[in-house]
Amino acid sequence: MKKVALLTSGGDAPGMNAAIRAIVLSCEYKNLSCFGFYHGYNGLIEDHLLPLSSQLVNAEIKNGGTLLKSARCPAMMTDTGVKQACNTLLKHEIDALIVIGGDGSFHGLLAIKAHWHGQVIGLPGTIDNDLYGCDKTIGFATAVNTATQAIDKIRDTANAFDRVFIVEVMGRHSGHIAFQVGLSCGAESIFSFENYSNEKHDIILEDLIEKIQKQQLNRHASYLIVLAENLWPGSANALQEQLKSQGNIESAICILGHTQRGGDPVPEDRVLATQLGLKAVDALIKGEDKVMLGLSASQLTKTDLNKAVSINKPVSDELVNAHKGPLTHYLK
Ligand code: ADP
Ligand code: F6P
Ligand code: MG
Repeated sequence: MKKVALLTSGGDAPGMNAAIRAIVLSCEYKNLSCFGFYHGYNGLIEDHLLPLSSQLVNAEIKNGGTLLKSARCPAMMTDTGVKQACNTLLKHEIDALIVIGGDGSFHGLLAIKAHWHGQVIGLPGTIDNDLYGCDKTIGFATAVNTATQAIDKIRDTANAFDRVFIVEVMGRHSGHIAFQVGLSCGAESIFSFENYSNEKHDIILEDLIEKIQKQQLNRHASYLIVLAENLWPGSANALQEQLKSQGNIESAICILGHTQRGGDPVPEDRVLATQLGLKAVDALIKGEDKVMLGLSASQLTKTDLNKAVSINKPVSDELVNAHKGPLTHYLK
């Protein structure tokens, strides 16, 4: 194995640059040449290649985003697109491809593997933390930190007015960010896929209205609702209208959105990305193929890529249930 290529794909995540840096430094140390493809799989399809050196990446450990750029690349969903990507790898005589991304990106990597002889390794890079086989994905800790800091600020102004706030957080279809952030901010309510269902919509809304009304009557305090994106039918706006029409409750909405994706990675993400970047090169040298590397209970894990994309990683019941009982008893 002589030539390693890498790319970042899907939603960018803070720490992707730290992973790129560790891979490049490790390749140099081990006398392997290292190339990056720009804009996710588009770079492979369009043959947009950049030789990577320690000089280029060394200062990148502290930067959010990704120096290789990222993208969603619909062409990878077609046979033609995948074959074009493979042809580029063949043309440059690449021996191994490392993809830093989420579950979608690993589907792309599996599609490439079906037509190409080289080794493939995935590193979990997404703020959503929705990948089986690792405790945390690169970028998750930073997103949680960013959202927590933002909501702490919202809490100050909410307290000043005894106001109700609905804060929408990202996560696509998983509640890892919602529960982690909701707990860390002491939110009065957390709504995510793990504790909400359409069938129970009316009961959940009634219960929420009751809690807010009691809180406002008895304690004259703010009330913070952390809401996972893509959850509430009609989104935060519908919830706001329902609180008004069914409970005469005024509320404000804040959608944290892409602020959660940007910013310098927190130390936890820098270290995780660095460890996984180094391990990825070691794993390639050992001949590993078609695996995602991760850390679980501080131990390196190797998960078959097929498993990584097909097994769900739910938010632990411990975390979901932690919000009940002692932490919210005063709302009853
Ligand atoms: P993430 O990797 O963060 O989950 P996406 O789901 O958007 O982000 O996937 C990123 C990219 O991976 C897609 O734009 C596409 O290029 C590629 N991809 C996703 N799913 C597939 C698939 N089933 N087959 C081939 N490529 C895919
Ligand atoms: O997967 C990361 C993520 O930020 C999700 O949390 C969110 O649902 C999605 O990407 C947003 O995608 P886009 O940046 O394309 O709007
Ligand atoms: Mg995904």
